Amino acid sequence: MSFLSQTGDTNSLEQFSQAKPLQIDCLLDNAIEAIDDGKDVIMGLSKSQKSLPPRYFYDSRGSQLFEQICQLPEYYPTRTEAEILKQYAPEIAQLTGACELIELGSGSSTKTRLLLDAYQGLNYPLEYCPIDVSGSMLKESAYQLLADYPRLHIHGLVGTYDRALTNLRPSVLPRKMVLFLGSTIGNFNPKECDRFLTQIVTALDEGDYFLLGIDLQKPKQILEAAYNDSQGVTAAFNLNILQHLNWRFQGNFEPTLFTHQAFYNSTQAQIEMHLACQKAHSVILDAPDFRVNFEPEETILTEISRKFDLHQMQDYLLAHQLKTLQVWTDSQRWFGVLLSQKQQHKQIINPN
Ligand code: AVI
Repeated sequence: MSFLSQTGDTNSLEQFSQAKPLQIDCLLDNAIEAIDDGKDVIMGLSKSQKSLPPRYFYDSRGSQLFEQICQLPEYYPTRTEAEILKQYAPEIAQLTGACELIELGSGSSTKTRLLLDAYQGLNYPLEYCPIDVSGSMLKESAYQLLADYPRLHIHGLVGTYDRALTNLRPSVLPRKMVLFLGSTIGNFNPKECDRFLTQIVTALDEGDYFLLGIDLQKPKQILEAAYNDSQGVTAAFNLNILQHLNWRFQGNFEPTLFTHQAFYNSTQAQIEMHLACQKAHSVILDAPDFRVNFEPEETILTEISRKFDLHQMQDYLLAHQLKTLQVWTDSQRWFGVLLSQKQQHKQIINPN
């Protein structure tokens, strides 16, 4: 495509200001290899409760399976969040005024279209910065968006959240809004969540916005059904992590020796996905040269998916310098979307 300018140079404002509709910067280079040496896998499989980093779900088959999960009748988060955005995107645009949209984990950018429609409806300039580790996915959805929104400018960043948040170009609009949708924040444990919000706040200027989608606490049966679908897509997604490790680290995991388990841990308010071992055996990963033994019924924790309380989340955001301006939910209060704004000072929350 003639409008594509692709460069590894992250300091490329000059090129962007010539108003090319599409620019994609790749931030991946050696950084991805450094985090892919398997140390995090060895660490997780060496603990008494074995675990794996959920990022290994997302090879190309894993990403396809996740897209399928989003369409499942039992998996309500995607369509519920989309319903909320469909209804309230015009209000979000009114509240923020013209601003650049920066989306973490943009994927197919489907929900972003609802926001773009709203900003376009108000005749605001359309500036979009999708961030994703999959360059092919990012490029494909960028082409489709440009075909549908003739006034849109896209400056995509292929890379991890960490890398991208420290490499945002200065905004061409007075304000920016970081989007973190789909309740992906629920896949972070509290420590990871603190670190992530600190990175977000550091990337924002005072007055900039953060739009967050969160899955809310609800009856256990509804939650457990969403992660134990009748077609077995979530089970396939969970088991695929082992195939991905085999490929990436020359391993010999035998997926048929494991079964999918997902249940709601109400004490921690989180869904836990595990792979339960069916019989004693050992697995070898050649590339990092690592051997691990499994006992029958022992499990690997592959993902947590935390379910939130709206008021607690507002307090939590405020403790990170983000003041909630507005909250939207669906009629069943299953999912929440919060618009917050970076404050000048950190709020000290009085524990009494
Ligand atoms: C990406 N993330 C928000 C999903 C979730 O619901 O926690 C991942 C997922 N795992 C199983 N189903 C969906």
